[in-house]
Amino acid sequence: MKLPENGRQPSEVLSALDEMRANDARWRDGRTFSLVYYGGDELLTLLHDAFFKFFSENALNPMAFPSLRRMETEVLSMVADLLHGPDCVGSMTTGGTESILMAVKTAREFAANTRGISRPEMILPDSVHPAFHKAAHYFNVKPVVVPVGEDYRADVAAMRAAITPNTILLVGSAPSYPQGVVDPIPEIAALAEEHGLLCHVDACLGGMLLPFFVKLGQRLPAFDFAVPGVTSMSCDLHKYGYAAKGASTVLYRSRALRRHQFVVYTDWSGGLYGSPSMTGTRAGGPIGAAWAVLNYLGESGYLRMARQTLDTVQALVAGVRAIPGLAVMGEPDMSVFSFATTDASDIYRVGDEMDTRGWHLDRQQRPPSLHMMITAAHTGLAPQILADLAAATEVARAAGPATSGAAAMYGMMGSLPDRTMVREFVLDFMDGLDR
Ligand SMILES: Cc1ncc(COP(=O)(O)O)c(C=O)c1O
Repeated sequence: MKLPENGRQPSEVLSALDEMRANDARWRDGRTFSLVYYGGDELLTLLHDAFFKFFSENALNPMAFPSLRRMETEVLSMVADLLHGPDCVGSMTTGGTESILMAVKTAREFAANTRGISRPEMILPDSVHPAFHKAAHYFNVKPVVVPVGEDYRADVAAMRAAITPNTILLVGSAPSYPQGVVDPIPEIAALAEEHGLLCHVDACLGGMLLPFFVKLGQRLPAFDFAVPGVTSMSCDLHKYGYAAKGASTVLYRSRALRRHQFVVYTDWSGGLYGSPSMTGTRAGGPIGAAWAVLNYLGESGYLRMARQTLDTVQALVAGVRAIPGLAVMGEPDMSVFSFATTDASDIYRVGDEMDTRGWHLDRQQRPPSLHMMITAAHTGLAPQILADLAAATEVARAAGPATSGAAAMYGMMGSLPDRTMVREFVLDFMDGLDR
């Protein structure tokens, strides 16, 4: 396709965009279980308005836009306060992955500068988000993966056994994506302190929801800066903060630690250059929208949405447990859980059957399972989801293992012992998506 010779009218361009969206996932109806966090139309309109107020502004130069600097500071302060780190400092980033990249980069620089470590290693429970592997890849930090326990939580004894003189960072999740369990952060952080290591808690998922679950009376182990030894945290705003996409936070216990995140180049003919995070230009829109949603919802708004989410997830977890042939994996702590079949029937076929009923659940492997991430957008949908899930499970049981289609493909990919073949398959798939 070539650049059109002559431009088109705005209305024509916009209707072409609308046409292109026709087959996109229906997130407004609660049909998707990740990717979109929808908090209702009033909230969405506010996000749009706030985003567009700062649509053109650039947070790369904080002196040019004091508004962005102020909003970023206030957003970080509010998140730090929720996470019991009133004196913590940090940065806003474009998402969980960038926050994690920054935490790993900071740990690497800190260890190089304070301990002279040149071949750094970080210890990752098997359940951590792949963003840590991306960080390992980008920053040349060796990922030392340790298995999780039978409850899917980080195995602290295994983490202890994996420590070497090159270890710089221990990681825990609050909660983990695959099974939605919170790792034993107090034990991981104590282990880090004992060995003079840094400890990062990935609360990309839970940072804006767990504090409200605790306020609603849920019994959860401590997972944030209240735990001595936790030195950094990632907490996304574009997930359970219900902010516009492109908004996350990375927080550090001290300024001295955060300093290692920044990149400064002083010899450029274009002037002195300092950049806090991965990107150069930093979009103003997500900062404005994040500030807006925190101030619009406030504590009472987040509590209300947390209550709705908690009610829905409790109904769903109990309902899935009651469906013969399905089992919830572990004891999920928040709003994220996964389930597998307990007999020989194919869980991926259950997923395909749910697709045909309009519910798009994410597929998982090791072991094969389906994943649900519940938000306020799913309020009131539990009975309908459970009825369809019971029917889908029945169909899958009668049908036996899939021999063709998506279910068969997932099954085959999950069971291939040679992971390089799977890697090549995924690379080919990505390569074929666009040019
Ligand atoms: C636990 C956890 N950490 C990090 C991330 C990465 O966040 P993002 O997709 O915003 O980069 C996710 C995304 O789902 C996550 O679940």
